Amino acid sequence: MIKRIVSLPGDGIGPEVNNQAIKVLKACAEIAGFQVEIDEHDIGGISIDKHGIPLTESTIQACLAADAVLLGAVGGPKWDTLEGHLRPESGLLGIRKALGLYTNLRPVKVFDALKDASTLKPEVISGVDMMVVRELTGGLYFGQPKGPRTVNGHDDVVDTMAYTEAEVERIAHAAFKLAMTRRKKVTSVDKANVLATSRMWRSVVERVASEYPGIELEHMLVDNCAMQLVRNPRQFDVVVTENMFGDILSDEAAMLTGSIGMLPSASLGESGGLYEPVHGSAPDIAGQNKANPLAAIASVGLMLRYSFGEHNAADLLDKALEGILSRGWRCADIPLHATVILGTEEMGDAVVEDLYDFARLNNGAKEIV
Ligand code: IPM
Ligand code: MG
Repeated sequence: MIKRIVSLPGDGIGPEVNNQAIKVLKACAEIAGFQVEIDEHDIGGISIDKHGIPLTESTIQACLAADAVLLGAVGGPKWDTLEGHLRPESGLLGIRKALGLYTNLRPVKVFDALKDASTLKPEVISGVDMMVVRELTGGLYFGQPKGPRTVNGHDDVVDTMAYTEAEVERIAHAAFKLAMTRRKKVTSVDKANVLATSRMWRSVVERVASEYPGIELEHMLVDNCAMQLVRNPRQFDVVVTENMFGDILSDEAAMLTGSIGMLPSASLGESGGLYEPVHGSAPDIAGQNKANPLAAIASVGLMLRYSFGEHNAADLLDKALEGILSRGWRCADIPLHATVILGTEEMGDAVVEDLYDFARLNNGAKEIV
């Protein structure tokens, strides 16, 4: 079996962390007994430099034909003065839309070994294990009209939050299905005391909930949710929310884990899937072998689970990551209690080594050399 992967390294630290993720993916494939074929394409600033636009038709076609896409990061100061639709970020939004990736999963799990690295007290964050399910192709990011316009002779600028019932329905199903495999609780986050889209969101989520009788559903206003995330984050299991709310809340939730450099994400639609770290392109440390590749590597774990159904390999990878962190091996982003600070490349090598060690243990030291 061959899995065709498109790698979109992008900008800043993107290429460095993607390289490590690919190295780990190849090791996982060898262990699990499948082959990977990697095809690299441009997105973001590098695409602007080479082709004049942040996302080309050939990148879109390659991603549509792939089994899964691995993305590094996009953006950087070099392209910050460009107009909205020419910015690197619009390449990222464009690929999500073109691939129909409406479900964005952002798992927030506090590793025991890192609970002192958070800015919150260890007793507040210990045991946190939640999944942010962010709607990714609608809402405030994509609603029309958008941009500058002239109304009654006056110039203004508009963004629109718009949803169809069908869009809310499908993301609600994704959240409830996921909750079935977890602690069976869904928190739907909205701003129903102010926004019409939120009131519709609420009633659709309730209708969908009736198909999942074993799941507890609660509604929470987005401002309250922002507060509850730092007050008592353990209360959350699956959090489902609008695109922009999810963007903001997932950064906040990420910091519970001590470093945004640890968090992976999966963007899913009816087929395929795009996997990327939650962090950005960190241009200040690009090219210095300093970036933490663990979020990109953990994104490979999500790819193994959600696109390939390779749960054993994904479990092995989780174990390798836990092992490395519990030995105190860190990258420069989490120096606290580190026994050793590794570079990007060395961290990738460490994960691969641990993977093979665990695989050997699992196989009674037989098949894998
Ligand atoms: C994210 C990022 C993107 C978003 C940006 C880079 C367009 O912040 O993936 O969370 O807002 O979705
Ligand atoms: Mg974001």
